[in-house]
Amino acid sequence: MRRSVAQVRAAVEANLPGVRADLERLIRIPGIAFAGFDADVVRRSADAVAELLRGVLPEVRIVQAGGHHAVIGRRPAPPGAPTVLLYAHHDVQPPGDRSAWLTEPFEPTEREGRLYGRGAADDKAGIMAHVAALRAFGDDLPVGVVVFVEGEEEFGSESLEALLRQYRDDLTADVIVIADSSNWDIGVPALTTSLRGIVNAFVDVQTLDHAVHSGGYGGPVPDALTTLCRLLATLHDDAGDVAVEGLVRGSAAPLDYPVQRFRAEAGLLDGVSLIGTGRIVDRLWMKPAISVLGIDAPPTHEAPNALVPTARAKISVRIAPGDDPKSAFQAVQAHLERHAPWGARVQVTREHDGAPCVIDSTGPAFDAARAAFAAAWDGTEPVEIGIGGSIPFIATFQELFPDAAILVTGVEDPDSRAHGPNESLHLGEFARACLAEALLLQEVADRWGGRG
Ligand code: BES
Ligand code: MN
Repeated sequence: MRRSVAQVRAAVEANLPGVRADLERLIRIPGIAFAGFDADVVRRSADAVAELLRGVLPEVRIVQAGGHHAVIGRRPAPPGAPTVLLYAHHDVQPPGDRSAWLTEPFEPTEREGRLYGRGAADDKAGIMAHVAALRAFGDDLPVGVVVFVEGEEEFGSESLEALLRQYRDDLTADVIVIADSSNWDIGVPALTTSLRGIVNAFVDVQTLDHAVHSGGYGGPVPDALTTLCRLLATLHDDAGDVAVEGLVRGSAAPLDYPVQRFRAEAGLLDGVSLIGTGRIVDRLWMKPAISVLGIDAPPTHEAPNALVPTARAKISVRIAPGDDPKSAFQAVQAHLERHAPWGARVQVTREHDGAPCVIDSTGPAFDAARAAFAAAWDGTEPVEIGIGGSIPFIATFQELFPDAAILVTGVEDPDSRAHGPNESLHLGEFARACLAEALLLQEVADRWGGRG
């Protein structure tokens, strides 16, 4: 039976309290796929997701292809109806600086209409948006569904390609919905049509065989930390643009992102300038960026007066759509080796990478999404945006299923602070995202009529 917008809305709203409770249950499981964190917790997180999916889908399996556990749930399509794949990830980033969190990272807490906790937005709310949409229809779904929730997205989805190949037949779909991006603003939904790729790497510098007295040797002898800092400083030119040759640079569609708004959303301090040149959206979505994420060095409170022999930095390179992670890594590696200060030994090793992508926003799936989002946001049409972040799944999926339409949606907003302390979900926008996804399933079913 076809449901009206009002019926779908009522069903989604009736289920929201349960959805919220289950979201909190997921946030309490700190499943981090990074090396050095407990993989059993990621497994428990997959179990919890599987249990939720068993409540709405007849077939649910926990799967693995050499990496962390993912969950696949399925309900076959009614005759003639399309199949929609719903993607999210259940792993989260490490909590980072615990002293900067106002409440415990893995204890969901509501303040002023937002739910705080690691993963509250990225991407446990994405999982729950899928569950909410499915609960709204119960056994009477207008489309076939495959839910795919992976467990290592935040660590580069290393076994994803193997998983997709192994379960290819189970994952085949006409439309895929990736609920792992951001909306444009509170009250303004978005569809994401481009994402940057990523190359994370370690830079090791060695100048000495062993640590020596900083007074006895300092002056003539370069310590590894100073050397590493000089080396890292070569990655940008004086204007702050990336100085590495051989990376792809493009430009974004003309969407205005006012500098003042961007500065405020970033939390940039007064007087600190933005770096690089060109429009914000170009710099953010279509040009490369390089950042230093961490340095292994003696902690300052216990650093002896000694010259450090070795130092390591972790750098993150965001690459533009059209670039390739392998050649980008080579370009950065060659740059760093060529710029080794003072003959220091420099070694660059890849941690993980993910490809960028561009998504064609024409066709019935996009029309369905625009209609569903506008209805859920009281008439406000979705904006097409790029994202400076990465979702490696998309390029892999595009390669394997070139005919599927891809919709990148999301539950984040500019103040979600994903990956940082005090990550949070705007509960009002989350309710809209749940409704939008339920309406989307109905719209896709309607628009596929007659297309087989
Ligand atoms: N949800 C993010 C992608 C994203 C970033 C959406 C910014 C909206 C705004 C995703 O979970 C993510 O963070 N991905 C990682 C991928 C990487 C580890 C391969 C990222 O971009 O750091
Ligand atoms: Mn995410």
